[in-house]
Amino acid sequence: MKRSGILFVLSAFVLASFIQMNISKNAKTESESNPLEEYKFPKKVKAIIDKSCYGCHSVDGKSDDAKDALRWDKMHEYDKAKLVSVMDDIIEVTGEKKMPPKKFLEKKPDWKPTDKEYQTLSKWADKEAGKLLK
Ligand code: HEC
Repeated sequence: MKRSGILFVLSAFVLASFIQMNISKNAKTESESNPLEEYKFPKKVKAIIDKSCYGCHSVDGKSDDAKDALRWDKMHEYDKAKLVSVMDDIIEVTGEKKMPPKKFLEKKPDWKPTDKEYQTLSKWADKEAGKLLK
């Protein structure tokens, strides 16, 4: 009787440390799977986004298509797969200068990024994608 009591305490202890180990392991995986949780845009990049992109791709946007495609203000909630695909899309639209949409720029030409700004955005997205895929 006494021996089984000790055994019980012992196995409870082993079990508890095992669970504890797993909890901290899981916590770590969680933060690794969301690398942009504390995401900070470089100042230069943020300025371009604010000027040329944020108005449509954020809570302020009027087009659901734009918001479905990209939300700068929700990037920290994207998982890794979504982030990689978003970075890929950003590289594409900045490379082809497809964003902001042409029709819109006819009305608001001051939103248009300069060639250098397109390049800055594209390089940044490329770097982010590289970091995510490491
Ligand atoms: C006037 C609103 C508006 C602005 C400003 C704007 N977008 Fe968009 N964006 C849209 C809309 C609408 C869509 C979805 C439909 C489409 O693809 O045309 C979209 C789609 C996208 C997509 C998804 C890929 C794709 O081709 O559908 C990306 C990436 C994107 N925008 C990036 C940007 C970036 C980067 C900027 C700033 C340089 C920007 N957008 C500025 C309206 C906007």
